[in-house]
Amino acid sequence: MLIRITPEHPIPSSEITPEGVYQDRRSFLKDAGILGVGLAATLAAGKQAGAQGGQGTSIGGAELKGELTPEEDVTSYNNFYEFGTGKDDPKPNAKNFKTKPWTIKVEGMVAKPATYSVEDFVSPSKLEDRIYRHRCVEAWSMVVPWQGFPMADFIKKVQPTASAKYVEFTTLNDPKQMPGLRFPVLEWPYVEGLRLDEAMHPLAFFVTGVYGKTLPNQNGAPLRIVMPWKYGFKGGKSIVKVRFTDKEPRTAWNIAAPDEYGFYANVNPEVDHPRWTQARERRIGELRRRETLMFNGYGSQVASLYSGLDLKKNY
Ligand code: MTE
Repeated sequence: MLIRITPEHPIPSSEITPEGVYQDRRSFLKDAGILGVGLAATLAAGKQAGAQGGQGTSIGGAELKGELTPEEDVTSYNNFYEFGTGKDDPKPNAKNFKTKPWTIKVEGMVAKPATYSVEDFVSPSKLEDRIYRHRCVEAWSMVVPWQGFPMADFIKKVQPTASAKYVEFTTLNDPKQMPGLRFPVLEWPYVEGLRLDEAMHPLAFFVTGVYGKTLPNQNGAPLRIVMPWKYGFKGGKSIVKVRFTDKEPRTAWNIAAPDEYGFYANVNPEVDHPRWTQARERRIGELRRRETLMFNGYGSQVASLYSGLDLKKNY
């Protein structure tokens, strides 16, 4: 992101999973019941949505189950600058990160401002499984089986007022636990924002788990955002504050480099990053580059949110 990287973002060969190993891992997961049981709801939802056509992009994402990125890659190749800027920094540096107790302060234009816990919004038995494409602005991607709950459920519970148009999300800012905060690579704390209608979209997801397990610290425990049609940086991790407002929030990456990282950050193969192409991506674990899909493949579901908006200006 801010750090200069070569346009093609080569990944060391040690990080590329050979097909055989990948398939072995998949059959292990199946044997362990992780794919079979945990994703039953996903598969059922996928069947339904698949019948409706589109780009193969159901809410559950069952059509992506053959493309899952191995768990080891999902949980060890991370961006979480509060724990360091290297991809392999967050896992060791977040090892002792304390995520219990955890509170989320809800404030601004909302009928029910309060300090909530994650359990106020969802019980573990009600978690949904969703397999989503995950596309980083750095032109790599993954396919991830997340667990969580619709962001809309959260928003409905706290009841934004009629004047609220945007939601701002803030990440924990605790220098004692987060060694990366010593470095001014971003304006801390990490802040992200969405238009309220984007946040209410059925694909917008609050994540508490991955691969059928509690979310690892390096992936944003205990609660992080996942917006599958946007670049990964919109997915703020370890969220402690949610503020409803009538003004477009300032966001950490937009403040850092406004010509590189816009407010919308919708995946768009036609709008290049000033320093590299966004037309292609490298799926972690694959050698050949893939074409990047408009809205990361979720266009049939989300394009209407942006009708009339110039996506080249509103990148
Ligand atoms: N959230 C916080 N708080 N800090 C970060 O540095 N990085 C973002 C996003 N959320 C980031 C963050 C970026 S650039 C990406 S691509 C995703 O997290 C990576 O999520 P993952 O590590 O689970 O793949």
